[in-house]
Amino acid sequence: MGKKQFSVAVAATFLSLVHIVVSVPFIMLHGISAECSDHTNSNFPRLLSNLSGSRGSCVEIGNGKSDSWLMPLTKQVEIVCDKVKQMKELRLGYNIVARSQGNLVARGLIEFCDDGPPVYNYVSLAGPHAGESSVPFCGCYEWCDIADKLMEKNIYSDFVQDHLAPSGYIKIPTDISEYMKSSKYLPKLNNEIPNERNSTYKERFTRLKNLVLIMFQNDTVIVPKESSWFGFYQDGNYTSQPPLLSAQQTKLYTEDWIGLKTLDVAGKVKFVSLPGGHLQIATTDVIKYVVPYLQNQPS
Ligand SMILES: *[C@@H]1O[C@H](CO)[C@@H](O)[C@H](O)[C@H]1NC(C)=O
Ligand SMILES: *[C@@H]1O[C@H](CO)[C@@H](O)[C@H](O)[C@H]1NC(C)=O
Ligand SMILES: *[C@@H]1O[C@H](CO)[C@@H](O)[C@H](O)[C@H]1NC(C)=O
Ligand SMILES: *[C@@H]1O[C@H](CO)[C@@H](O)[C@H](O)[C@H]1NC(C)=O
Repeated sequence: MGKKQFSVAVAATFLSLVHIVVSVPFIMLHGISAECSDHTNSNFPRLLSNLSGSRGSCVEIGNGKSDSWLMPLTKQVEIVCDKVKQMKELRLGYNIVARSQGNLVARGLIEFCDDGPPVYNYVSLAGPHAGESSVPFCGCYEWCDIADKLMEKNIYSDFVQDHLAPSGYIKIPTDISEYMKSSKYLPKLNNEIPNERNSTYKERFTRLKNLVLIMFQNDTVIVPKESSWFGFYQDGNYTSQPPLLSAQQTKLYTEDWIGLKTLDVAGKVKFVSLPGGHLQIATTDVIKYVVPYLQNQPS
């Protein structure tokens, strides 16, 4: 190597180090029936780091997989809020990438975490933001039989709300009254209850620099898949499934309960639709739709 090439190489290495030091770090939040140490959730943040040149890691809540089912989302948010406040590297702000149910934790972190570091960009992969209209099938634990029966029968009972995380965002379209009265998580997160809307949640959510909402066209886990874009069935008391509304047709958007409209009007929301099933994102799409939002500098 000549002298000149050598100094170019040194300069390039120096610049990439500078980039790592000054670029905004990210955290990743996994979905249900998953944990940071499993194959997918340990590799994905590494892939994102490799491609973006930014530091980032999966942040665990409780013991991982079983707590992703058994710990109510309010509690999960409290834990992750405490964690991010203790992570010195996030002090100047950070980005979030979340997968599936992890998006409800992510949004809780943005809206509810008092005195947390600022969140700049938030990339949501298949998040049931406007609710999930069918009860997810448990399947992989010995207690699943009981969990499935409880969720089917009594999704809005205190007991289920306090012991099964997904009950916090199940929104049965034919039982909206009960949902508004007894669901303990999503109505609050989405500022849905007329006399209990908290403008602080909206103000915090509106501070995002970019919100990337990725929906998978063949997603059969998020029902309706449009919930990944904040679309959902029309509110009301119906005997059969009500009509599906796009995000822009919902009151959450038109009345701007959490600032989604404000962000959208400002050009800060990217509605991305990708081929494939739940969370099946190709690396080329990671490069196009995720990586650019992890390469920002602190402001
Ligand atoms: C990230 O980069 C490292 C070092 O080049 C490599 O060993 C690893 O396999 C990469 N991981 C992923 C998930 O791309
Ligand atoms: C709204 O939320 C903020 C932040 O959590 C809290 O400090 C405040 O008391 C809440 N306001 C009302 C009216 O509940
Ligand atoms: C459903 O019906 C109940 C009882 O008539 C009413 O109080 C409630 O507002 C209705 N809910 C919606 C979303 O229309
Ligand atoms: C999506 O589903 C359709 C219909 O089942 C199928 O033809 C198509 O191959 C699927 N696409 C992907 C990318 O999985």
